[in-house]
Amino acid sequence: MARVALVTGGTRGIGAAISKALKAAGYKVAANYGGNDAAAEKFKSETDIPVYKWDVSSFDACSEGIKKVEAELGPIDVLINNAGITRDTAFHKMSLEQWSAVINTNLGSLFNMTRPIIEGMRARKFGRIINISSINGQKGQFGQVNYSAAKAGDIGFTKALALETAKAGITVNVICPGYINTEMVQAVPKDVLEKSILPLIPVGRLGEPEEIARTVVFLAADEAGAITGSTLSVNGGQYMA
Ligand SMILES: NC(=O)c1ccc[n+]([C@@H]2O[C@H](COP(=O)([O-])OP(=O)(O)OC[C@H]3O[C@@H](n4cnc5c(N)ncnc54)[C@H](OP(=O)(O)O)[C@@H]3O)[C@@H](O)[C@H]2O)c1
Repeated sequence: MARVALVTGGTRGIGAAISKALKAAGYKVAANYGGNDAAAEKFKSETDIPVYKWDVSSFDACSEGIKKVEAELGPIDVLINNAGITRDTAFHKMSLEQWSAVINTNLGSLFNMTRPIIEGMRARKFGRIINISSINGQKGQFGQVNYSAAKAGDIGFTKALALETAKAGITVNVICPGYINTEMVQAVPKDVLEKSILPLIPVGRLGEPEEIARTVVFLAADEAGAITGSTLSVNGGQYMA
């Protein structure tokens, strides 16, 4: 029987690449998204992967959404906590709303998504939880106190939960992408990218979403049971933690 994988923010950018790679590897995949119906419908028609709309910053919405996915596809074996947002600004100008939106979406979502799923994984003695953090959670970033705090929190969450679930056959790992070639990064002006960003990346190029997806497929495998609590950097050598 194919294992079931749920990818939050799985309809665009890195998440879409993860959803497609898991499907290609033989998983039954569900892709969650937050609000961009047009992108989700396009993704669904191109990939034939079912899409589910709910807000990962709401615990109740996650519990309802997970119930629906499990009713339609079966119990979730693999959870990819990928959905994330930015609300960048210098800290002395940051509003409580900008702080809370990023903390609730990028860190609160790990509780909201994982808590309703973990008991089933424990009972079935199998689970793969893969969290998508960021290089900026490892090293900090100007204008991203909210984002760096949330992404660093994702790493702590991963390590603590990995300890708690190791004996139950559940692994928990975190991937820290560097600059990845998604819409978010494509929006950066070309000269800023060439003069200020690429020189910081030893491999001399952006990462591709498929390179993050490949790492996810590696960690999700049944054969990856001894890899838990690890932080994998996929950043072209930009930061070696
Ligand atoms: N791109 C990079 O260079 C980079 C680098 C390091 C880390 N990351 C991390 O990688 C992850 C994916 O980034 P990306 O660049 O692929 O982002 P993206 O292209 O902006 O896509 C974000 C995805 O998350 C979904 N999402 C956002 N808020 C949500 C919410 N409240 N509830 C449910 N879904 C929500 C979006 O849904 P809609 O389509 O409905 O909006 C979309 O599917 C994020 O956690 C990001 O922080 C990215």
